[in-house]
Amino acid sequence: MTLLERIPRETFHEGSIPVLETKRLALRAPRLEDAKTVAVLANDRRIAENTARIPHPYRMSDAESFITGANKAGGEAVFLITLRDETIVGACGLLMQEQTPELGFWLGVPHWGQGYATEALHAVIDYAFTDLAHESLQAGARVTNPASRRVLEKCGFQWTGVGLYRINSIKSSAPIDRFRLERGIWSALKTWGRMKRVM
Ligand SMILES: CC(C)(COP(=O)(O)OP(=O)(O)OC[C@H]1O[C@@H](n2cnc3c(N)ncnc32)[C@H](O)[C@@H]1OP(=O)(O)O)[C@@H](O)C(=O)NCCC(=O)NCCS
Repeated sequence: MTLLERIPRETFHEGSIPVLETKRLALRAPRLEDAKTVAVLANDRRIAENTARIPHPYRMSDAESFITGANKAGGEAVFLITLRDETIVGACGLLMQEQTPELGFWLGVPHWGQGYATEALHAVIDYAFTDLAHESLQAGARVTNPASRRVLEKCGFQWTGVGLYRINSIKSSAPIDRFRLERGIWSALKTWGRMKRVM
């Protein structure tokens, strides 16, 4: 990626977090005034039961805690996913887990099935390997969550095994598939994408 290609999405920053722009989306740091919208969107059992940390019901105070706690730790990058007209549709980000950051994401149910998660994650992954210079990323998806698995696979993640996640909303652990994306695979996929565009 040339410096010139990087300028548009690096133009704006919210604190230490840049605004990442894609064809249809803008990813930016959450702000306290977003809490009400985030609380409404995230308050759905289908989201809570497929993520480790999101409680159910999800209250305004949960949204406020999420927002005030976001982007405080080194190496972390938490974004709200918005449409280009600034409508908030979900959230995604990288949380530090030991050495390897873990990718998390959710979309409000009315916005499922339009390719937004895949589009947003591509931007976060590029940011993780370029600006944040991470060497690999990890993610987990409940074995009952084929949409999440499909999104990860479309972004180049490879299955590495199974495990258990503690799921806040069900107050229990649940089996998950583990995935990993190494810098080498990401780089090869970017090169392949560029080649396809000129062929
Ligand atoms: C997982 C989630 C983020 C997907 O968001 P999205 O914007 O609908 O995802 P995309 O449209 O980019 O891609 C979804 C893919 O899954 C596929 N899919 C959806 N439901 C599926 C199902 N039941 N079985 C198989 N594939 C399915 C879609 O067809 C699409 O693949 P395709 O482009 O090859 O057709 C969203 O469903 C969500 O927020 N779920 C709850 C929270 C969650 O699971 N977060 C992930 C935690 S790891």
